[in-house]
Amino acid sequence: MLEFSIDQNRCVQCGECATGCPMRVIAMGEEGFPVIANGREKFCLRCQHCLAICPVAALSILGRNPDDSLPLDNLPTDAQMEQLIRGRRTVRRYKKEAVEPEVLDRLLNVISSAPTGKNNMQTHFTVVDDPAVMDKVRNACMEAIRKAVAAGRTRERGAEFEAFLKLWDERGIDVIFRGAPHMIMASSPKSSPTPQADCLISLSYFELFANSIGLGTLWDGFAFWVMKGIAPELPGLLGIPDDHELGYVMLFGKPDETYHRCIQRDTLPVHRVSL
Ligand SMILES: Cc1cc2nc3c(=O)[nH]c(=O)nc-3n(C[C@H](O)[C@H](O)[C@H](O)COP(=O)(O)O)c2cc1C
Repeated sequence: MLEFSIDQNRCVQCGECATGCPMRVIAMGEEGFPVIANGREKFCLRCQHCLAICPVAALSILGRNPDDSLPLDNLPTDAQMEQLIRGRRTVRRYKKEAVEPEVLDRLLNVISSAPTGKNNMQTHFTVVDDPAVMDKVRNACMEAIRKAVAAGRTRERGAEFEAFLKLWDERGIDVIFRGAPHMIMASSPKSSPTPQADCLISLSYFELFANSIGLGTLWDGFAFWVMKGIAPELPGLLGIPDDHELGYVMLFGKPDETYHRCIQRDTLPVHRVSL
């Protein structure tokens, strides 16, 4: 059931909803108002493009009232976006304190707007929101590495992980989680159309939005490698469903360091196709 309705007092019969529908689910009916095209309901991606494109907020789908939508009149400027993207840094020093629950809820809510393949919307977030739990995760991970090193399961990266353990044991330096108070892992059912891309896109959105509200983030390749490789029991222990592909691991929290300017990176190589 698409719960589709048109407020005929508002509709200006422009047909944008029908033209904008990627699956041709909407057509203009005989009376000039949009209708669900015969037999097309089952193809709806539930993307809500029709609701977003209507210039007069006359269209409701999936029971959503268009008047409840966030308006699109306050976008950041290109200069602001450029500063956000260029100014983002990997943060490796965090305050111990937790991010406020309402801030975290907002972040998690916002990233639900990240695109997913075929709008499958199955990306799943496993979050450590309590720094005390993060300490337990850190300990469990270190112990898993210790076992893997002892059993020679770290393959070619044994020396690197042995060095991490030594730093942890002897000096309390946490190279894997950088003392971060929080972690988010994105996973998606292996059966979904685009699990890897969906996870990486949602975490990229998470990172930028987190930066825009003053939080720091780190793409945690070491933790990902531990979970995918040397201690594959960890994702299950943390509650990631068995049938999911782990997309990536990201640390976040209030930064305990401040950057004052953007870095000056060289432009990456671009190949322009000419056929
Ligand atoms: C996929 C990925 C994995 C990463 N893994 C780690 C990691 O395990 N530990 C770490 O300290 N930094 C990690 N980084 C951060 C990179 O080292 C960092 O992005 C790079 O040095 C550039 O610095 P910047 O992010 O501040 O621009 C990772 C980054 C990416 C994109």
